[in-house]
Amino acid sequence: MPGSFDGINILTMSPDAVPEPLWRQFAAILDPAERERATRFVFERHRRQFTAAHALKRVMLTAAAGGAVTPAAWRFETGAYGKPKISGAEAPHFNLSHCEGAVACAVSHDTEVGVDVECLDRRAPIELAGSHFATSECAWLEQQPEALRPIGFFRLWTLKEAYIKATGLGLSQRLGDFAFQFEPLRVTFADPALGDAAAWRFEQKLIGSQRHMLATAWRAGSTPIRVEVKTVDPEALL
Ligand SMILES: CC(C)(COP(=O)(O)OP(=O)(O)OC[C@H]1O[C@@H](n2cnc3c(N)ncnc32)[C@H](O)[C@@H]1OP(=O)(O)O)[C@@H](O)C(=O)NCCC(=O)NCCS
Repeated sequence: MPGSFDGINILTMSPDAVPEPLWRQFAAILDPAERERATRFVFERHRRQFTAAHALKRVMLTAAAGGAVTPAAWRFETGAYGKPKISGAEAPHFNLSHCEGAVACAVSHDTEVGVDVECLDRRAPIELAGSHFATSECAWLEQQPEALRPIGFFRLWTLKEAYIKATGLGLSQRLGDFAFQFEPLRVTFADPALGDAAAWRFEQKLIGSQRHMLATAWRAGSTPIRVEVKTVDPEALL
């Protein structure tokens, strides 16, 4: 069971590390709509990524609520652009991501949060940079030594995903209107309507034996926020 819940807590888990008997317990805490969505995946591994992510989300929310709501009792609704939230409540905020070999969930009482995890074992679709990245991001990627271009691509991709998931606007947001820079890690906005870029914070790290890139985005408040990323053993979850 996850620990303290101030700031932003991010837990990651490998679906491949879930022992066979636990899958039934994970499925049992999903609601009927989630179970139904799980059945729609053609491949078992995608069903398992989905089930693990939503079980992790429910257990983390219960921990954030100090046990006041059981994992199975959480109900969710969807925002105008598809971001899930707790029915009838603004907080705790959460966001989840699933990919080959890893799921991640971020939970916070304090701020809206977006999280993205990508598997680095797959080929980086660098040809998508021109249509998905800002001009300055494409230029940065071009400048990278060829061997580092794939990881550079995933760095930008996960940050952009985490940001559009934190705002909740998803792909309705123009991906070229905001651009990331590194050292220090920050975002700039081409469109002033996007607000104050300096208010945004990001965390990025390799997880799971360096096979996955994780990025988290949140809007800073007046006080610094503690951000903790941990990998959880599935057997310790329930
Ligand atoms: C749906 C989207 C928000 C994330 O999709 P994704 O990266 O394929 O998938 P992830 O596993 O990281 O995240 C999916 C989860 O995000 C959540 N989500 C869905 N819409 C969301 C939104 N508008 N805002 C925040 N979170 C959202 C859901 O919980 C979803 O999980 P579920 O379907 O199991 O309930 C959206 O960004 C998308 O379709 N991306 C496609 C890839 C792309 O073109 N990215 C551009 C990057 S430069």
